[in-house]
Amino acid sequence: MKLSRLCILVLALALILCAVPTSAQQRPADIESRINALLARMTLAEKLGQLQQLDGEGNGNFRPEHLDLIRKGLLGSTLNVRGAQRTNQLQHVAMEESRLKIPVLFGFDVIHGYRTIFPIPLAEASSWDPGLAERSASIAAQEARDAGVRWTFAPMLDIARDPRWGRITEGAGEDPYLASAFAGARVRGFQGTDYSAPQKILACAKHWVAYGAGEGGRDYNTTDLSENTLREIYFPPFKAAVDAGVGTVMSAFNDINGVPASANPFTLTRVLRNEWKFDGFVVSDYTSVKELINHGLAANDKDAARLALNAGVDMEMVSRLFNQHGPALLKEGQVSPATIDEAVRRILRIKFRLGLFDHPYTDEAREPNSLLKPESVSAAREIAGRSMVLLKNERQTLPLDKNIRSIAVIGPLADDRRAPLGWWAGDGREENTVTPLAGIRAKVSPQTKVGYAKGCEVKDSLTTGFPEAVALARESDVALVFVGESADMVGEAASRSSLDLPGRQMDLVKAIYETGKPTIVVLVNGRPPTIEWIVDNVPAILESWMGGSQAGNAIADIVFGDVNPGGKLPVTFPRTVGQVPIYYNHMNTGRPPEANNRYTSKYLDVPWTPLFPFGYGLSYTQFKITNLQLSAQSIPANGELQFRVQRLPVNGEVTVTVDVENVGKRAGDEVVQLYIRDVAASMTRPVKELKGFQRVTLQPGEKRRVEFVLTAAQLGFWNREMRFVVEPGEFKVMVGPNSEDLIETKFDVAGR
Ligand code: BGC
Repeated sequence: MKLSRLCILVLALALILCAVPTSAQQRPADIESRINALLARMTLAEKLGQLQQLDGEGNGNFRPEHLDLIRKGLLGSTLNVRGAQRTNQLQHVAMEESRLKIPVLFGFDVIHGYRTIFPIPLAEASSWDPGLAERSASIAAQEARDAGVRWTFAPMLDIARDPRWGRITEGAGEDPYLASAFAGARVRGFQGTDYSAPQKILACAKHWVAYGAGEGGRDYNTTDLSENTLREIYFPPFKAAVDAGVGTVMSAFNDINGVPASANPFTLTRVLRNEWKFDGFVVSDYTSVKELINHGLAANDKDAARLALNAGVDMEMVSRLFNQHGPALLKEGQVSPATIDEAVRRILRIKFRLGLFDHPYTDEAREPNSLLKPESVSAAREIAGRSMVLLKNERQTLPLDKNIRSIAVIGPLADDRRAPLGWWAGDGREENTVTPLAGIRAKVSPQTKVGYAKGCEVKDSLTTGFPEAVALARESDVALVFVGESADMVGEAASRSSLDLPGRQMDLVKAIYETGKPTIVVLVNGRPPTIEWIVDNVPAILESWMGGSQAGNAIADIVFGDVNPGGKLPVTFPRTVGQVPIYYNHMNTGRPPEANNRYTSKYLDVPWTPLFPFGYGLSYTQFKITNLQLSAQSIPANGELQFRVQRLPVNGEVTVTVDVENVGKRAGDEVVQLYIRDVAASMTRPVKELKGFQRVTLQPGEKRRVEFVLTAAQLGFWNREMRFVVEPGEFKVMVGPNSEDLIETKFDVAGR
């Protein structure tokens, strides 16, 4: 009897304990009162310490000075320090030896995978399947978390209309609608609904903002953009991230209309805090606070600290100006105590939400088994396959038969282990990369002869390897040529003035093509290339991007038909670099291009059209899109909308339906894309704007009705008075498999 009472008591106690919310589920009011209690006890030095982030070593070690700084409460966060054991070592110092026991926040660039590397983000965007990005981010979060990382500097949400910019590789391309869908998905993947959960990490929307618009495609360069363009093109992915609950934002390197992003009160405070109600914290990009001096905004270090703090930067990455000059700035009244307290409050808030105070350590036993799990590796293969884009396939050159007699695998990227990992490859290792050559060897029949010849290097000018490659092609049934960019040619500080294949790679393709053997070009690259000759001559082209650890297997899956490619370009491919910037959602001009009219908007020496339009991609099967219908020919105008309104009443919506049918012989995927055009408005509007898309899988002969809802908010724009409005008048609705091949209809928004 006594025993059973005890049991009941224990059970009741257990139930009560279970019902106690974990730290992140604490009520916001509780978090705020814990922050208040802490703030009241903090010295100024300790407060400024929370605003400081310092870099570890490239290999993941912390630096000796970190121990002492943390012990004294002078360092709130590190970047690049990783590994369960190393992060725990530092955290023990914070939790056991510092006065206030405020945990350290460990950040790292987990951009497209931690150890299992997924395709570069530009590739994932080519899947037009945000669910995939959510999956890869969530696997990356789990691996990173088990390795002691609590915070990733991702997703990168910069719209890029200029492929010369190397960081185009890190984003979702040129379109704000597609990029917003991927922004939300990635934030959800990293953070889930509660980033204190054991497998989740904190995300960071970067680089706020317009970093992708640097003039000339040159990294870190200045930008000059209208507020309309900022609000309609560059802001939306960030808004989507904030709506998805992103905990942090990174202020960019560039200046925007004369005010650097890391000292910009308009973007950091007015838009982010006041309009969007973002309550997480802002971290500067690497030394971007100190760089305010180079920009010519700040006269000296102290001035730089003042400008960044007052504009709304909370945590300073790597430079130490907040710490060095905070006391004097406060004393002189150039920064208010409230500003410092607010920055500390935002950082502590996120640390509480992360559950760091209650669970500061990482379980060291988990790390070894948590990386490269078989299910993570197979997800990487599947996601890579769904991210690749078939650009050309004449006479059904692809897919190849696995029993083919012989294959020549040629090119500097055919057996390169580094390139598929791309830029920011986390803790990815070359030894875990499946190269295209390895993927092909693993796929073909035992009788198939697979020969390999490098031909040339990616970058140098030597052609000494050509004869061997040509001879191999001659003696094989088919030649697969892998060309593109090496990993160091993409990413940060990797702007290029030419988009041509570097080195002698184009000559290599020509030499192989001239053998007369069926030639297939597989691109391994991180930005749109200019490959007009290849497109005009070679019968089959696959854009494989930089496909991650499993790139080679995914390429083989497609080349041999186990996977039917269904990706679509998230960015326009130019014919020549001189066309850049070239993007689908441009304004019309008063003289739109006409072939036989010189005095229209075009070039003398190249066509105005792209090599491949935004949204383009083929499949091994064919689709037909027909029967475009709208639920209404006319909807009432709703006048001015508040910008936060997402949906208006039903009468402000139009349902768009269309039939898509697989008219070929294989199962495959089509991405049905919906575009609109506001025909006449009080400001010129883009010729097309993506407003919906769906990737559907159809069996041969299968037909499906696809439905989109166009809400009033999707019809609106920022007008001359910088108000978000839907104006009466005609709207075109266009649907198709890419941004060029469209069927169209129209409706009216009626005047009030
Ligand atoms: C990059 C950021 C990155 C940071 C930390 C900077 O150079 O611009 O994207 O998160 O370094 O590694």
